[in-house]
Amino acid sequence: MIYLDNAATTMHKPPCVTDAMIQALTSLGNASRGAHEGALQSNRLIYRARRTLADFFGCPESEKVIFTSNSTEALNIAIQGTLRKGDHVVTTVLEHNSVLRPLYRMEQECGITLDFTPADARGCIDYEQLAHLIRKDTRAIVCTHASNLTGNMVDIARVGQLAKEHGLLLIVDASQTAGAVPIDMEQMGISILCFTGHKSMMGPQGTGGMCIHGEIEVEPLKEGGSGVQSFLTRQPREYPTRLEAGTLNGHGIAGLLAAAEFINETGIDVIHTHEMALTRRFYERVVHIPDVTVYGDFEATTRSPIVALNIGDLDSAIVADELAYSYGIATRAGAHCAPLMHKALGTGEQGAVRFSFGYFNTPDECDEAAEAVEQIAQRMHQ
Ligand code: ALA
Repeated sequence: MIYLDNAATTMHKPPCVTDAMIQALTSLGNASRGAHEGALQSNRLIYRARRTLADFFGCPESEKVIFTSNSTEALNIAIQGTLRKGDHVVTTVLEHNSVLRPLYRMEQECGITLDFTPADARGCIDYEQLAHLIRKDTRAIVCTHASNLTGNMVDIARVGQLAKEHGLLLIVDASQTAGAVPIDMEQMGISILCFTGHKSMMGPQGTGGMCIHGEIEVEPLKEGGSGVQSFLTRQPREYPTRLEAGTLNGHGIAGLLAAAEFINETGIDVIHTHEMALTRRFYERVVHIPDVTVYGDFEATTRSPIVALNIGDLDSAIVADELAYSYGIATRAGAHCAPLMHKALGTGEQGAVRFSFGYFNTPDECDEAAEAVEQIAQRMHQ
C-alpha cells in the first residue's frame, strides 16, 4: 500500500518508537505511585519526556507540559479550563471540530460569545479581519496552526503579536504541525499549545498534550488519583498533577519520547524539506490535469504536507475508494471534521480527497499517486 494519509495518522513510525514501547511494556511501573524500581523507571521516563517536549516546543517550564490522550483532549482542557461566562473568543473558519465543538458547547452552555475570521476561496485568512474582530471583552484567540483540509498554515507569530498587544490568551491547535515544522511558544507568543503524538510527531496513537506558557490558571476537566496529596478533597493545584488525574499512558509516552528524539536527531528542517518536496512534486503533476481542482494556497513558502483535490464532480469518497481498492493508495475523503473550511471552499457536498505526505514517503509514491489521479480523471470522459 502507498500510505498518503499521514495527516490522519502516520502509519510508518521510526523503528526506535516500536523498540521504546516494547521496552516500556516490559519494564514500567506506575509513575508517582511507588518507590520501587518499576515505578521509578516510569517517573524517570516521563520526566525525560516532559523535558524533551518542553525544549522541542519552546515551553519554558517542563512541569507545564501536560500529557493527554490526543490534541482533542488537550483542546477541550484548554478551552473549557480557561474560558468563562462573558468571555468573547475570536477563532477562524479553518478550525477542526476539536476546536469548534468545545467552543460551540461553551457558547450554548456557559455564555461565551464567538466570532469567526473568514477565509478566501483559497482558504487563507485575512489578518486584518482577525484583528478587527477583537473587542473589549475578548479573552482569547483560538486558532489552528495549519488547516487539516488544505494544509494552509496560519502565521502564528503574527497572531501571537496581536494577542500580546491586546493581552489575550492564544490557544493554538498544532495537530497538523507539531513535528512537521519548528514551533517555539516563546517566540511565537503562544499561551497554550495543544499537540497530538500520532501524526507528524510519528509517535503512537493515544498520546499528545498541551504546553502552558506562563501563569495561566487552567481548571481540570477530570479529577482523580494523583499519587500525591491523597487526603485533599480536590485535585492538587500544582502542574502537571493538576491536569493529569489517573494513570498516565507511560507506554505511549515512551514511544512519543523516542519519536521526539528521532525528529531531533534527524533534524526537523530535514523532515520539513523532504515533505515539502514531496508535496510540491505531487501538486505540480496534478494541478494541470483537466477536471482536477486543487484546494489551498500553493504560493505560500511553507505549508503542511497536504494536497486536497476533487476530480470533476465525483464524490470524494468514490475517488478515495477507487484509489484504495484499484491502486492501493490510502487517502482520506469526505468532510475531514472541518465543516466551516468546506463551506468556505464550496466543498460541503462533495468533500475532498486529501493526500498527505510523511517523512517515509518517496518521490516514486508521489508519481504513482499522481498517475492514478490522472487515470481516474481520464476515465470520467469515457
Ligand atoms: N484530524 C485528523 C484528520 O484530519 C484525524 O484526518
